[in-house]
Amino acid sequence: MDHAADAHRTDLMTITRFVLNEQSKYPESRGDFTILLSHIVLGCKFVCSAVNKAGLAKLIGLAGETNIQGEEQKKLDVLSNDVFVNALVSSGRTSVLVSEEDEEATFVEPSKRGKYCVVFDPLDGSSNIDCGVSIGTIFGIYTLDHTDEPTTADVLKPGNEMVAAGYCMYGSSCMLVLSTGTGVHGFTLDPSLGEFILTHPDIKIPNKGNIYSVNEGNAQNWDGPTTKYVEKCKFPKDGSPAKSLRYVGSMVADVHRTLLYGGIFLYPADKKSPNGKLRVLYEVFPMSFLMEQA
Ligand code: AHG
Ligand code: MN
Ligand code: MN
Repeated sequence: MDHAADAHRTDLMTITRFVLNEQSKYPESRGDFTILLSHIVLGCKFVCSAVNKAGLAKLIGLAGETNIQGEEQKKLDVLSNDVFVNALVSSGRTSVLVSEEDEEATFVEPSKRGKYCVVFDPLDGSSNIDCGVSIGTIFGIYTLDHTDEPTTADVLKPGNEMVAAGYCMYGSSCMLVLSTGTGVHGFTLDPSLGEFILTHPDIKIPNKGNIYSVNEGNAQNWDGPTTKYVEKCKFPKDGSPAKSLRYVGSMVADVHRTLLYGGIFLYPADKKSPNGKLRVLYEVFPMSFLMEQA
């Protein structure tokens, strides 16, 4: 084994070490972001473990089943939401939380407030939960830029005002991809250590990709330009090869593949969903923040 490979195996860059390194570049930083992130990481590990056990639900009583004590178990997405809300509130570093699962924003009680606001989808890809296909958590982080009472205006801001965004994919491995505004970095959960280890530093989306990713079942409801574009992917007129179609139906998985392999992922507006199906604040903005950095 060469020296570099050896160092890689014995000198592990955990996500906490990575973020602490970043933090040391800002002497005025008091570590609030590192603490917030460690609570997000805990949420991701919990959801990962729950997702991995989901297939055993019928056997051991999880997710929507009744457990041995006869208690109704929570559905995975509800459970994931509870875990993230609790982790974020108890970090003491957040003031406003917006989750896909909750009708209303959560305003953290004054004694537990901190300078961040987090928008998130605790478990995205609901149609894939029950068949064991990759799903994920998406999050975006804003800073609270005043000391007055927080309001929803503190989160209803453009995506490029986020200070960090990321996702965790519960797939064949569990991967957390994060950007704090300087590049996009991927960490893989080593289950034996319970730590996310830097495996994909500074991810750059390939300039050219030969994959398009879209729910083509919606084609009859698309507008003209969308139809024309997808037609061009399949029947290129310039002599280039046709693109391959890949569509998981979990945004995290489709975006992750696009980051690593290149190509395009789209969920265009159509006659059924004139604003597109993806939720702007906690699905589209965090992903655009990452894409901008990659
Ligand atoms: P949800 O937030 O309800 O889990 O929706 C998942 C999203 C996104 O992850 C995915 O890209 C898209 O919905 C899939 O939608 P279709 O099933 O319409 O293709
Ligand atoms: Mn969602
Ligand atoms: Mn969801």
